[in-house]
Amino acid sequence: MICLKNTTAIYPGSFDPVTVGHLDIIRRAASLFDNLIVVVMTNAKKAPSFTVSERVDMLKKTVADIPNVKIDSYEGLLADYAKKTKADVIIRGLRAVSDFEYEFQMALTNKKLYPDTETLFLTTSAENMYLSSSIVKQIGSMGGNIRGFVPDVIHDFIIKRLYGKDE
Ligand code: PNS
Repeated sequence: MICLKNTTAIYPGSFDPVTVGHLDIIRRAASLFDNLIVVVMTNAKKAPSFTVSERVDMLKKTVADIPNVKIDSYEGLLADYAKKTKADVIIRGLRAVSDFEYEFQMALTNKKLYPDTETLFLTTSAENMYLSSSIVKQIGSMGGNIRGFVPDVIHDFIIKRLYGKDE
């Protein structure tokens, strides 16, 4: 197993909510780098369903068993956060070709704004290729079964928030 010593990686995203696809990327990134910060940020193109503090709480519960992962949130630019935390690497997960154009633009923009960081893409595991937070929200808000799509530890909270019902 490769582990890059003395490196800090950040994994930014909306995490609205965190899915098992995100968790897979978190676990794999945590095994590659000394320190991993998962940071909840604002995507100007999306209206979130969960508050920042709810998303942070769900992430904290999700990664409770992974010692080198910290959870944070940030309101500004990703490049500024990378600079502030002296991040060597920005991690992004890639699911399909449809993700590529946006991710490519983001990686190039961040490199221009803060050249000391590299964006590193981890390909999603095959079983999570279809999965996204918006699919989870769509299914959950109509009372569908989202077990297996989100970490077990936050399943009931998500159902209650989206569907207003205890399981
Ligand atoms: O999970 P998402 O929604 O794909 O994450 C996208 C996110 C939040 C990482 C991106 O929108 C972002 O970096 N937002 C912070 C503001 C910023 O830096 N915008 C310019 C990106 S090129």
